[in-house]
Amino acid sequence: MSEILTKSTARNIFYGGSAFFFAIFVALTAQSHFYIVNKSTDQAHLTEAVERGKRIWERNACFDCHTIYGEGARFAPEVGDVFKRWGGEKDPAGAKQLIKDWMKAQPTGVAGRRQMPNFHLSEAQLSDLAEFLAWASRTDTQGWPPQKAK
Ligand code: HEC
Repeated sequence: MSEILTKSTARNIFYGGSAFFFAIFVALTAQSHFYIVNKSTDQAHLTEAVERGKRIWERNACFDCHTIYGEGARFAPEVGDVFKRWGGEKDPAGAKQLIKDWMKAQPTGVAGRRQMPNFHLSEAQLSDLAEFLAWASRTDTQGWPPQKAK
C-alpha cells in the first residue's frame, strides 16, 4: 500500500501553510496600521492640547470607571462619544463648556445615581480634557462600541 501523505509532504504542507498565513497576518497588520493612521484618526486636529488632555485622562485613571472606544471599566458611561451626545457637532464651544462644568460639579450627590469623584483639575487642565474628548469623538470607530451610552 502506498502512502499518500508522506512525511515530507506533511512537513511541506506545515511550513507552506505557516508561511502563507503568516504573510496574511503581516499584510492585515500593515493594513490596520495604515487605516488607523490615515483614515480613522483625525490627524489634522491632533493638537498639543489634545495630547495633554489624553495624559490627564490617563493620569487620573478615568478608565477605572469609564470606557473610551469600549476600552476600560463599565461602571460609568462610554465617553468616546460624549462630546457628540452633548451637542458638540452643532455647538462645539457649548459642549466643551458642558464637559468642564460637569467635571467641576462632581460629585453630584444625587440619590440613586452612581457618583463620580471630583478631580480638582485646573481651568487649563479642564480645557485640555475637553479638547481631548472633542477630538476623541471624531475618531471613526466604525460604530464601535455597538452598545451606546444611555
Ligand atoms: C470612580 C468612578 C469614576 C471615575 C474614576 C471617573 N468617573 Fe466620570 N463618571 C462616573 C459616573 C458614575 C458617571 C455618571 C454619573 C451620573 O450620571 O450621575 C460619570 C460621568 C461622566 C461624564 C458624563 C458622561 C455621560 O455620558 O453622561 C463624563 C464626561 C465623565 N464622567 C468624565 C470623566 C473623566 C474625564 C474622568 C477622569 C478625570 C472620570 N470621569 C473619572 C464615575 C467616574
